[in-house]
Amino acid sequence: MPKLGVNIDHVATLRQARGGVEPEPVLAASLCEAAGCDSIVSHLREDRRHINEEDLYILRKTVRTRLNMEMSIAKEIVNIALKVKPDEATLVPERRKELTTEGGLDCVRYGREVSGVVRRLRKKGIVVSLFIDADKKQINAAVKTGSEFIELHTGEYANAKDGRERQAQLKKLAGATEYAIRSGLRVNAGHGLNYSNVSAVAKLEGIEELNIGHSIISRAVFVGLDRAVKEMLGLIR
Ligand code: PXP
Repeated sequence: MPKLGVNIDHVATLRQARGGVEPEPVLAASLCEAAGCDSIVSHLREDRRHINEEDLYILRKTVRTRLNMEMSIAKEIVNIALKVKPDEATLVPERRKELTTEGGLDCVRYGREVSGVVRRLRKKGIVVSLFIDADKKQINAAVKTGSEFIELHTGEYANAKDGRERQAQLKKLAGATEYAIRSGLRVNAGHGLNYSNVSAVAKLEGIEELNIGHSIISRAVFVGLDRAVKEMLGLIR
């Protein structure tokens, strides 16, 4: 049974729509924790389109579960992470124009750079995870970086156009999880998971935590955060 990390970025997206102070992402994090989630996830993007540095420093002080900072490997962001000292850092690729993180981090191509960032973060006691595609070459490259965790990208599974493709993607995720664990990694998963597709992924053997944002915050608009988080926990457990 995996744990649930809630990504609260889109509460800040709504705040930024008016450039004011509400809704407050830090309050959202507390409500998610009170509803029973296992960690709070937040992505400090280079373009600061939702969460900003100040939010992160306050989250660091107020989060009672674990704070998982999603981040690119850009020097500026790495230096902030070393100051904030989240419990975990999930390294993701970042492109300015993307609507959301589109693919996994390319650990084959950027192995040396990623390894350097992993080393610096781990030296500060930060647990590191690499957001990668369910691909053997990426898993092998992730092992070489010295990261403890990977987070498997579930976007292709979530976007599958029919049941057959969904099953094929699920099988790929199961195989990648097994292979990663045999290679000595610990495995999380996330991206695009929602109330109708989460159960099958939650049943996959070996996945420790699911990180979910958009679907939970969207549902919270109608039923409130407490119920949105509890309903997701119910489906996972
Ligand atoms: N995991 C990672 C690494 C992500 O980049 C994101 C999106 O910020 C998520 C999980 C959550 O994705 P979603 O908002 O689609 O649930």
